[in-house]
Amino acid sequence: MSDRDLNAIARKIVADGRGVLAADESTGTIKKRFDQIGVENTEDNRRDYREMLFRTEGHGTYTGGIILYDETLRQKAKDGTPLVDLIRAEDVAPGIKVDMGAKPLAGAPEETVTEGLDGLRERFAEYRELGADFAKWRAVIKIGADIPSAYCIDANAHALARYAKLSQEAGIVPIVEPEVLMDGDHDLARCQQVTEDTLDAVFNELYRQRVELEGILLKPNMVISGQDAGQRADVQTVAAATVQTLKRCVPSAVPGIVFLSGGQSEEEATAHLDAMNKMGSLPWALSFSYGRALQQSALKAWSGKSENVAAGQRAYLHRAKMNWAAARGEWAAEMEKAA
Ligand code: 13P
Repeated sequence: MSDRDLNAIARKIVADGRGVLAADESTGTIKKRFDQIGVENTEDNRRDYREMLFRTEGHGTYTGGIILYDETLRQKAKDGTPLVDLIRAEDVAPGIKVDMGAKPLAGAPEETVTEGLDGLRERFAEYRELGADFAKWRAVIKIGADIPSAYCIDANAHALARYAKLSQEAGIVPIVEPEVLMDGDHDLARCQQVTEDTLDAVFNELYRQRVELEGILLKPNMVISGQDAGQRADVQTVAAATVQTLKRCVPSAVPGIVFLSGGQSEEEATAHLDAMNKMGSLPWALSFSYGRALQQSALKAWSGKSENVAAGQRAYLHRAKMNWAAARGEWAAEMEKAA
């Protein structure tokens, strides 16, 4: 069906504890991150920041893929080298976010559906030319008193599968990301129920739409208490519930599961991943595809100043290494202090 071995590409991205850096913030989202460090959101500053990350020496040991935003996939480093070439120099796979964002879902006032299917076959052909090995599409499921509706889950699952099949047709590995948000005061049990309903719908659609499960990566949320819950579940509880849900819902044909961090702190996201991998024999590689939880310290250390590039790279390399260790079940809290 595809001219490339999608299973081999997917397995390489998560080989030996490697994971994914989600650096695909849209221009609007990166503005929020830059605002926190007082950096102006210009094309040059976005280039400088990402160039710093991609030039980090040795990060390819810990990072198997980097998700990019459209602008970044086309951008050149200060010296004229395409950023994609910098990424490949570390034997890391470049990826591309292809969705157009979560938009209000007609007839469901509080819910969204992710758009971007129109013209996607043609866009995939161009992204393949530009060097993308994998892609990402994020669906957003919000928990509230009467939501999510089955309508919202089904509409998003359908679009995710449409995207995934078009991606495979183009010879690009789709990362399938149904994110159940952490926002709210719901407990872990509610998150688990909604996550299972969502994954069940997603895998049904992937099957119906002839997506080859061997050639995808799943990017789910962890099963976790809401951000504002009175009593938040501890690390072991989150790890056990997440693994239970994944075993119930994710076929073992899927080569890898790479979590989003979704608002967890850097160390929390690492501790959760480590606890799951310490639980032992799992049918898929269990790794990371973090945005905020890989970049927070690096962004702060950099703060937009060229004299801070080395410090930013040290911070990024450290986080990547900690998450690599966690994906191998070899992380310990003392390793954070040692740095
Ligand atoms: P976070 O890890 O910051 O949630 O971002 C991951 C991502 O790519 C969301 O789509």
